[in-house]
Amino acid sequence: MDYKEATDRVLEPITTADLARALGISQDDVGRTRVAPAADDFSPPPDGWKAAVARLAGERASRLLKLKTELVGPPRAASGTAHGVAVMRAAHLIIESEPPVLNDTVAARLLGPEMMAQIRARVDELKTPPALGLRSHVLLRSRFAEDTLMDAVADGVEQYVLLGAGLDTFAYRQPEWAHGLTVIEVDHPGTQGAKRRALAATGIEIPPNVRYADIDFERETLAQGLARCGVDTAKPTFFSWLGVTMYLTREAIEATLRTVLSFPKGSGIVLTYAHTDSMKSQMATDSGTAGEPWVSYFTPDELGAMLQRLGFSDISFLSREEAERRYYANRSDGFAAPPRVSIAAARV
Ligand SMILES: C[S@@+](CC[C@H](N)C(=O)[O-])C[C@H]1O[C@@H](n2cnc3c(N)ncnc32)[C@H](O)[C@@H]1O
Repeated sequence: MDYKEATDRVLEPITTADLARALGISQDDVGRTRVAPAADDFSPPPDGWKAAVARLAGERASRLLKLKTELVGPPRAASGTAHGVAVMRAAHLIIESEPPVLNDTVAARLLGPEMMAQIRARVDELKTPPALGLRSHVLLRSRFAEDTLMDAVADGVEQYVLLGAGLDTFAYRQPEWAHGLTVIEVDHPGTQGAKRRALAATGIEIPPNVRYADIDFERETLAQGLARCGVDTAKPTFFSWLGVTMYLTREAIEATLRTVLSFPKGSGIVLTYAHTDSMKSQMATDSGTAGEPWVSYFTPDELGAMLQRLGFSDISFLSREEAERRYYANRSDGFAAPPRVSIAAARV
């Protein structure tokens, strides 16, 4: 389809004749229903007009959706990996002993009783070394991001943007220090739609400081998407990007980081990456089989160099020793930091 055809089709009008047909009245009568009710020539629309107009709107909406699909491909389904990591956060509170590395009490509510029953039935499977390592990584990255956010808030950050938020629950269990923040969850529409339906179905309240931006990093820039939901680009802002970069092309990663860099000094980011060594890992294979292939890998040196070239400062990588000291010391259950910690932080 060429540009002219696409624009002609998006501008295709609903005519008075269409409306007359849907309402079962003449075109002249349609005109008389469209003047202000106080006007002399006003005549009220027929009974059942709401259903008729809704049908017409629905037909137009499906034509537009079809056009959208032809232009940019079908809408993506909700991310299965987002669901998988929420399961790990919920499982942590069942399997490991106190104190939790991350106290995500909302994950179980969001997943629902059936999924929690399935988790309880699979506890042995979730105690294998690979499952323990992956769970530890997922908990650590969220805990570290939330702790870094807390420090950033003390330093004056006013907005928290979760890039590829998935089923992250920070917004729904936010501590008091976060109440002054605007929290913006960014994700592609498939995942975000499913999450919002799950929140509604499980009765989890959406706090007044939470907003949503449905953005596909591969199809539009973060700047365009954030502008749609009224994010203030003049305010220092903290970003987390957890478990997402591996699904994106380098171009989309760089474009997103450039948007982060357009925020004022004092802004910052915590992000994770897939290490080049994990290219042939079971996790990468499983994710590809599930329809979410890993496409970008970095060594810490490569990622550090990219962040530096783009203009970030204070670039750091959380070491395993530091993670162990901060979050896993003196545990009675042997739960330890993941074998490889692939978490970076940087400032604007
Ligand atoms: C493994 S999940 C991580 C979710 C969340 N950050 C967490 O730690 O629970 C990956 C997330 O990246 C999102 N994602 C992947 N590709 C994306 C894209 N092109 N645009 C926007 N989001 C994307 C998925 O929808 C999903 O929510």
